[in-house]
Amino acid sequence: MRKTVIAGNWKMNNDLAQSEKLIVELKNLLQNEKPNCDVIVCPPFTSLSEASKLLKGSQIKLGAQNMHFEENGAFTGEISASMLKSVGCEYVILGHSERRAIFGESDEMINKKIKKALAAGLKPIFCVGELLEERETGITNDVIKKQVLLGLAGITEAEMKNIIIAYEPVWAIGTGKTASPAQAQEVHEFIRDLIEIDYSLEIANDVTIQYGGSVKPDNAKELLSQKDIDGALVGGACLKADSFIGIIKGA
Ligand code: 13P
Repeated sequence: MRKTVIAGNWKMNNDLAQSEKLIVELKNLLQNEKPNCDVIVCPPFTSLSEASKLLKGSQIKLGAQNMHFEENGAFTGEISASMLKSVGCEYVILGHSERRAIFGESDEMINKKIKKALAAGLKPIFCVGELLEERETGITNDVIKKQVLLGLAGITEAEMKNIIIAYEPVWAIGTGKTASPAQAQEVHEFIRDLIEIDYSLEIANDVTIQYGGSVKPDNAKELLSQKDIDGALVGGACLKADSFIGIIKGA
């Protein structure tokens, strides 16, 4: 059976001291819990190394929020997969809608990043999601299909075992407007069907598909009880230890 995975995407929040404080709080709150899911935190690059030290021996895993697809070289301001590995990352968020919209990342770039991450031994959290106008014009499935197929082009069955997919409708991110559990379930099922067609029933049944977009402690349980929703990628609500733990308990 597939794993439930709750991941916190800190985005561009928390300097080193704030990151240390949040990690210590999360560790303390989780100490006596037996979470029914995997827990991942994705702090900014500048906090990863210290976060990795603080998380040693805890049940919380570490991820980054982005990386470049080249190994090294003249790419000012970029970070490579092996650099992330070297500071203890196990996961990396790729293709987030903010990277697509603000930083112009294409499906092809995201595909290269996914391949590079896997080759370096990182597990990608691969994000897809439609814009509000795309939903309103009835092309959600077309958009998702294009993102999924281009993003995963050339990825093998064996590699799929190390990929998490995150469905994040762009109109639900940071807006307080969550997709209804039924709306989210519909797209999750569609994504799982795509994986079945492209790979196999076994791979489709095993792949973890997270939902992201205004997930909060009070809506997590209902979203996570949907058949094809296997976790959450949390933004705003992961920046406070008690609300992130509230979501973890919802799982
Ligand atoms: P919010 O939870 O703030 O809507 O952000 C979701 C998100 O983008 C996680 O990657």
